[in-house]
Amino acid sequence: MMPLPGDWLLCHSVVGCLLLHNLVLMTLCVHCATASCSQSCYCSESPEGGQSVRCSGLRLPKVPRDLPNDTRHLYLDYNLLTTVPTDAFLGLPLLIELDLSHNELAQLEPWAFRGLAESLEFLDLSSNRLMALNPRAFEGLRARANLTQNPWHCDCNLQSAMALLEDLDPVSLTGLVCQTSEPKDAGVRGVPFLSVANADLCVTLKKTTDVAMLVTMFGWFSMVISYLVYYVRHNQEDARRHLEYLKSLPSKRSEQSSTLSTVV
Ligand SMILES: *[C@@H]1O[C@H](CO)[C@@H](O)[C@H](O)[C@H]1NC(C)=O
Ligand SMILES: *[C@@H]1O[C@H](CO)[C@@H](O)[C@H](O)[C@H]1NC(C)=O
Repeated sequence: MMPLPGDWLLCHSVVGCLLLHNLVLMTLCVHCATASCSQSCYCSESPEGGQSVRCSGLRLPKVPRDLPNDTRHLYLDYNLLTTVPTDAFLGLPLLIELDLSHNELAQLEPWAFRGLAESLEFLDLSSNRLMALNPRAFEGLRARANLTQNPWHCDCNLQSAMALLEDLDPVSLTGLVCQTSEPKDAGVRGVPFLSVANADLCVTLKKTTDVAMLVTMFGWFSMVISYLVYYVRHNQEDARRHLEYLKSLPSKRSEQSSTLSTVV
C-alpha cells in the first residue's frame, strides 16, 4: 500500500523537524561554547590565538571570576568596579591587554595584578577615581599603564610610591596629573607629577619628623638631667649624714677610752 500523500508529507516534515532540531542543537552548542568562556562577557578569537573577552558596559560591580585561561585581551571598561582585589587575574597567564578604564576604581589591592608580570603589555586604568598609588599592586609588572584622568592626590606617599614603580614602563608615569596636593601650595596641581619631580613633597614631612625627634630628645635629656640632679642631691644628703656619723664616732670612742682609762 502506497503511503498517502498526507502521511508522506508528515514523514518529510518529521525528517525536516529532526534536521531543524539538529541545527538548533548545533547552534545552541556553539552558543554553549562561547557562553562557557564567561557567563557575562562576549568572547571571540584573538589575532594572536586565544580569546578576546569583552565585558564592556555591563554594569559589573566585580571582576568576573569565570574568565577563560587563554584570554589575551580583556575589556572591562565602562563598568562599576570599585576595587581590583588581590589575584583578580591570577588564572590568565597569556593576558596581553587589560582595559579597566571608565570604572569607579578608588583603590588597587596589593598583588592585584599578580600572575601578569610576564605577559601584560597594556594596562588601562584611565578615567577612574584613583587618588593614591599602591606600589605593591603593580609588583613586577612591566606593562605600559594609562593612568590619566584620575584625581591624583600628589603628596609624599605618591612620591615615594612612584619611586617604587621602576618595573613599569616609564611612559606610564607621565599620566599622573595632580588634582590635589599636600602641602596645598606645592605648585604641582594641574601638572604631570613627573615634570615637578624636583618639588620634594616629603620635605615638610621630614621637617615635622625632625621637630618631633628634637622634642623627644629634649624630653629624654631633661629627664636624665633631673634624675642626675636628684641623685646627686640625695647622695649629698646621704654623704652628709654619713660624714656626721663618722664625725660623731671618734668623740664617742675617745669618751669610751677616757672612761676606760678612768676605770684603769
Ligand atoms: C587552560 O586550562 C586547560 C584545562 O584546565 C589546560 O589544559 C590548559 O593548558 C590551560 N591553558 C593555559 C594557557 O594555562
Ligand atoms: C589614556 O586614556 C585616555 C582616556 O581614557 C585616552 O584619551 C588616551 O588616549 C589614553 N592614552 C594612551 C597613551 O593610550
